[in-house]
Amino acid sequence: MVPSTKGDKIKFPLRRVTEGRVSFYIPDTPDMETDFVKTPVFYNPQMELNRDLSILAVQVFQEEKQRLIQFCEPLTGCGVRGIRIALEVRGIQEVYLNDRSTPAYELTKENIRVNEVREKVKVSNEDGNLFLDKHTASGNRFDVIDVDPFGTPAPYIDAAIRALKKKESLLCATATDMAPLCGVYPEASFRKYGGYPLKTKYCHEIAVRLLAGCIIRIAARFSMGTKVRFVHSTDHYIRVYIEADHGDTKADASLESLGFLLHCFSCGYRDLVEGITTLFTHLCPNCTSPLSIGGPLFVGKLFDKSLCERMKAEAEKRQLDATKKRIMRLLIRIIEEADGPPLYYDIHSLCDDLSIQVPKIEHVMNLLEKKDFKTTRTHFKPTALRTTANIDDLKDILLKLRQ
Ligand SMILES: C[S@@+](CC[C@H](N)C(=O)[O-])C[C@H]1O[C@@H](n2cnc3c(N)ncnc32)[C@H](O)[C@@H]1O
Ligand SMILES: [Zn+2]
Repeated sequence: MVPSTKGDKIKFPLRRVTEGRVSFYIPDTPDMETDFVKTPVFYNPQMELNRDLSILAVQVFQEEKQRLIQFCEPLTGCGVRGIRIALEVRGIQEVYLNDRSTPAYELTKENIRVNEVREKVKVSNEDGNLFLDKHTASGNRFDVIDVDPFGTPAPYIDAAIRALKKKESLLCATATDMAPLCGVYPEASFRKYGGYPLKTKYCHEIAVRLLAGCIIRIAARFSMGTKVRFVHSTDHYIRVYIEADHGDTKADASLESLGFLLHCFSCGYRDLVEGITTLFTHLCPNCTSPLSIGGPLFVGKLFDKSLCERMKAEAEKRQLDATKKRIMRLLIRIIEEADGPPLYYDIHSLCDDLSIQVPKIEHVMNLLEKKDFKTTRTHFKPTALRTTANIDDLKDILLKLRQ
């Protein structure tokens, strides 16, 4: 344990830890292991994979755009993410960090000092939205903004969009409020994200689509068109990477990627319907039970395959001590599913419904492919598949495999 060496400014004991190429201080308090929220300054070692992926994504983005990047993290905690970006991503010009907590600000300042990045990394101590609002003028905006809060990023999206550069910038956002997004509290989801979830076996994909839909709509208000480039659902959170570009026509085109989810809780039929004003049936075309409706949400493609492939190539080159195996597995699976159909099926839960034993997922895939249904695994769930087969085809195949 290293007692606080910064006396009057940092009033809690410190411990030095390493993540990526950064060695930094975190609070050394008993709460640290049990309750991340109660510690004087937040650091969650489990989010290393989240930060590693953001380093890969920002690196690929920087190389794609071929320009120096100004990166901003308005809710920084102990500063680890931003300092890692400064030290581990090539082509970073400046990093702006902020946290409204004074202990977080003081600790980030210290972490900037010990990592000798004072030239490149600045930190401030104010409300995240106020901080972003001070960066909305031309010449003052950011290439990449990473919103990584406790719970929902929704309160910061407006200000983040306004603080993004108008030409090809990137918004990254984490949401950990999975209960609203997965349909446990649908009203809370509608309140925060402007869309209703449905509590289905593929709710994590719905969660990502709700968050993306919320960002797309807010961006359009500021005449920013948007492209969903990369998303992932990991542990207890989801994350989206959305590129924004100024222009009314682009914003209008992005809004066309919004729509609704139709789901039948009787037979498992599901569909995504493009368009906010589209008329759709309220009865299941498969079994005529009433359909449930989710959304509005993003109904387009979740992954830009070439970006994912470049992230994987970047990951191969890097050490990524603690997370390398997991990241490689995750990116391989994401590349596999990138062009796959939406709304995956959980094979375990379908077999439960059919009261049959669960077959090997590879056997299910072989049979589906033999029948010319395009089928892939998904990173969202190890027991799930994406397939162009409909629910009845899939059930038939599962029943066949039982015999
Ligand atoms: C989940 S932590 C950030 C973790 C950090 N992004 C990382 O990767 O380690 C959320 C941080 O947001 C800060 N925070 C909460 N509300 C805020 C607000 N309105 N403005 C600025 N910071 C805020 C908290 O003090 C906390 O440090
Ligand atoms: Zn039905």
